[in-house]
Amino acid sequence: MFTIITGSQFGDEGKGKIVDLMTKDYDMIVRFQGGDNAGHTVVVNGKKYKLHLTPSGVLQDARLLIGPGTVVNPQTLSQEFDMLSDNGINVDEHKLGIDAKTSIIMPYHVELDGLRESARTDKIGTTKRGIGYAYIDKVARDEIQMADLASEEQLRNRLNEIRPMKEAQIKELNGNPSIMKDETWIKTYCDLGRRFAPYITDVSFEVNNALDKGKKILAEGAQGTYLDVIHGTSKFVTSSSCIAGSACANLGVGPTRVDQVIGIVKAYITRVGEGPLPTELKDSTGDLIRQAGGEFGTTTGRPRRCGWFDLPLAKKAVALNGYTDLVLTKMDVLSSIHPIRICVAYELDGKKLDYPPESTSDLARCIPVYKDMAGWDEDLTGIRNVNDLPDEALAYIEKLRSLINVPFKYISVGPDREQTFTN
Ligand code: GDP
Ligand code: IMO
Ligand code: MG
Repeated sequence: MFTIITGSQFGDEGKGKIVDLMTKDYDMIVRFQGGDNAGHTVVVNGKKYKLHLTPSGVLQDARLLIGPGTVVNPQTLSQEFDMLSDNGINVDEHKLGIDAKTSIIMPYHVELDGLRESARTDKIGTTKRGIGYAYIDKVARDEIQMADLASEEQLRNRLNEIRPMKEAQIKELNGNPSIMKDETWIKTYCDLGRRFAPYITDVSFEVNNALDKGKKILAEGAQGTYLDVIHGTSKFVTSSSCIAGSACANLGVGPTRVDQVIGIVKAYITRVGEGPLPTELKDSTGDLIRQAGGEFGTTTGRPRRCGWFDLPLAKKAVALNGYTDLVLTKMDVLSSIHPIRICVAYELDGKKLDYPPESTSDLARCIPVYKDMAGWDEDLTGIRNVNDLPDEALAYIEKLRSLINVPFKYISVGPDREQTFTN
């Protein structure tokens, strides 16, 4: 059984919560793209865990894997393991494996990301974690891989090979190239290489082998459909492919093995960083949703931009990912908002569109066409059965389901694992 979970909007849909919830039914949880730009929050009995690289199944009893399509900052991973260990969770090599070919985020990637972003007149609003520059090096074949990190000799040889080019790049962006010779971080990276050497594995082999034995694998996506480097709202995207097909390519698992593709979707929409968001609410309703939903970035703490549910984007997300099921999160956040609006189409240059235009600049010019739905005042966070929802909340869910035409597997009414029920 092979299930893929992706974000269907601009990230932060609640993937971490749902992956944690579903882990009880799976043997392996695998991250397939992105890096520590991701922030996945898992809440169990009120205790909050913020995860950036460790797959969100870590609190349960499953094998965890980090695939070769991800970009790993070993300092972040080390801090995360320490945080988990402080909470009594030991992440050793039996629990977690990292593919030998995984790209390593180096301090010069973080430096270049910051320099490039400052130099841009029209900013992207990256997380400044070096994600884009790590992926550039992967494609340019100048990356440091996990296997290089694990051997001091290999790491130093590779750095010597790469150094002149990186110094030139940093200088060109008016940065200080001395970072390339700074022994402090090089020594730290050698230590981290020794720490993570036992975790090295072949992810494709492990996953295919497990599938052959009838085991259940869950691939955990990071970011979201509209941050996809190819199909998202470029240039305002991340540097990896975040849609479901990326799981197969990045993990080395054939598309014929996929059984289920689940999209996580918020009952409204949010975005961090720049780029079009047609239904954005720049008023007190937007502030209300931000406060009620705790819509502040898990990784950077930036306020998330909030808007009404966007059906054209949801429809395209279904096409791009091939969703078999959806999970609707954050229904509780919409309590006490009257009316609740659904963007059912756009208007662009006098035409009505029910599917997003392909060009990002056209999407930025789209004016939402809304259908208003009655709101409710009841607090939903204590509800554990769909039939106990107020009629207006049920009507809202049913409206979304019929418009998107994909079933909701779960409804989520709070951050905690327990605050979830089947539809
Ligand atoms: P991810 O990146 O998709 O894993 O999402 P994040 O963890 O970055 O952001 C989602 C936030 O909403 C986290 O703080 C979650 O704890 C929280 N959350 C998830 N589901 C719900 C829900 O149904 N209701 C509320 N109120 N919060 C939720
Ligand atoms: P999770 O997995 C929301 C956004 C950044 C920026 C753009 C590019 O928690 O859903 P990058 O640092 O990746 O080069 O930044 O992508 N971004 C996210 N937004 N959730 C995320 O991850 C994100 N990861 C990157 O804000 O707009
Ligand atoms: Mg997040």
